[in-house]
Amino acid sequence: MPRSKGLAAGAIALGATAAVAAYDLIQRRHSVLRNYPVVGHLRYGLERIRPEVQQYFIERNWDGRPFDRDIRSIIYERAKGTLEEQAFGTERDVYRPGHEYLVHSVHPAREPQEAPRVRIGGPDCTRPYDMALVNVSAMSFGALSANAIRALNGGAAKGGFAHDTGEGGLSPYHLENGGDLVWELGTGYFGARTEDGDFDPQQFKDKAAHPSVKAVSLKLSQGAKPGIGGVLPGAKVTEEIARTRNVPVGEKCVSPASHRVFHTPVGLIEFIARMRTLARGKPAGFKLCVSSREEVLAIVKAMLEVGTAPDFIIVDGSEGGTAAAPLEFEDHVGMPLTDGLMTVHNALVGAGLRDRVKVGASGKVAAGNDVVKRLIQGADYTNSARAMMMAVGCIQSQICHTDKCPVGVATQDPRRARALDVPDKTERVRRYQDATVREAVRLMAAMGVDHPSQLTPDQLRVVVDHGRTESYGERYDWLSSGALLERSAPEQWVRSWERADASAFHTRAVA
Ligand SMILES: Cc1cc2nc3c(=O)[nH]c(=O)nc-3n(C[C@H](O)[C@H](O)[C@H](O)COP(=O)(O)O)c2cc1C
Ligand code: SF4
Repeated sequence: MPRSKGLAAGAIALGATAAVAAYDLIQRRHSVLRNYPVVGHLRYGLERIRPEVQQYFIERNWDGRPFDRDIRSIIYERAKGTLEEQAFGTERDVYRPGHEYLVHSVHPAREPQEAPRVRIGGPDCTRPYDMALVNVSAMSFGALSANAIRALNGGAAKGGFAHDTGEGGLSPYHLENGGDLVWELGTGYFGARTEDGDFDPQQFKDKAAHPSVKAVSLKLSQGAKPGIGGVLPGAKVTEEIARTRNVPVGEKCVSPASHRVFHTPVGLIEFIARMRTLARGKPAGFKLCVSSREEVLAIVKAMLEVGTAPDFIIVDGSEGGTAAAPLEFEDHVGMPLTDGLMTVHNALVGAGLRDRVKVGASGKVAAGNDVVKRLIQGADYTNSARAMMMAVGCIQSQICHTDKCPVGVATQDPRRARALDVPDKTERVRRYQDATVREAVRLMAAMGVDHPSQLTPDQLRVVVDHGRTESYGERYDWLSSGALLERSAPEQWVRSWERADASAFHTRAVA
């Protein structure tokens, strides 16, 4: 470079630095920059790339959060259909208290040719649905891009599993590829709501009649943010989203914390029965993150009182994901999946209703062992949200709420969403689900069972202390059928049963 040009470039750089320094000194937002003009920007730059540095350079294979590197790699490999075996043995500390393992058999069973499915539909359901062991958990169009929805639904169509729409309505992208749908309604009743936010039965009936809709689900709560609703800012309410949700374009779209259509456990069960009737006999159920045993028992009592039951209940764990929620709710509210699942399962068994209500489970289900563990704890099938997001390309950058998803999964920015190649990702979703179910079936065979109904709580053990392990059968209460009705359940269950009130969600004070 000629000397004069070099001098000019130097002068420009010096001028720019001086301008930044002057700005830093007079601005009032950042104290660091007022004290350390120019160099203080380094702190903000490093802060911005901290998650990437952590993920790529610091995190070990088993301690990344929410999903560790081992699990992420397995999802990507299974989605791509590449090598999925590990060399050299486990890196986990198998003696650590809390470590869980499945009990294999010295005489493994033969793997069934066909993966088992579970029939959803009690005696009041006229169009039962055979659910796969792993399905796509609820995620709305709005939280996810149109291309992500297309790929998830296309994968479900090719692989023969179900795709839950999430509470954001039934969008054209859910219907394009013909995958089986569970249509979810939340407190906003999006897609079936009146202008002032009430449930609109006629719209619900018309849309539930679509042949792709195989079941309808009412969302009561979600593990990542139980007890609060959600807000989609006006800027994100595009014409397309407004049409899907039946809300005005550009206006803030609010899901309230609680439902308008019921106020008591009896009201809830009556509404589920109404949904099933409006859906012309398709399975109807609800999803919740469990709050307390008493509230679950109040709902179960309501089933007995009303004389009908949901066809399914999906239990979401507090470890579940979301596109956006306050940290206090993500970290400190709601029952984890293990406890929630065992509570719902035992409540139904104890009331003699378990054979008519199927139980789904969601909360970090990503690999075959997660599926088998949840089946042992009381589930009939599982749903997966974030692992499915990874199958369509999510890299766990955890900025879903910013609309700046780097891979086009959780964004409404068409430029970013373009990056997601639908045919390729459709195939990845299909492969990932298929491989996960296959591994679950292989694990069950290794445990000596060829059908999930043969699994028992004794086949899952936990290290409770160094040198001591206990099975789930030994460690937790497992009620016998009708034990609550006969008052032969363990004492604390009977006490909760007596406190539970089918006419109120909040526990009645003990006399
Ligand atoms: C981006 C995103 C959007 C979600 N949207 C919904 C929703 O609309 N309705 C719902 O019931 N759950 C929603 N969830 C929760 C998931 O369906 C699921 O219950 C939870 O994430 C646990 O599953 P996971 O651990 O496999 O992610 C959402 C989760 C994510 C990550
Ligand atoms: S890549 Fe990041 S922003 Fe995109 S879906 Fe995954 S976690 Fe959300």
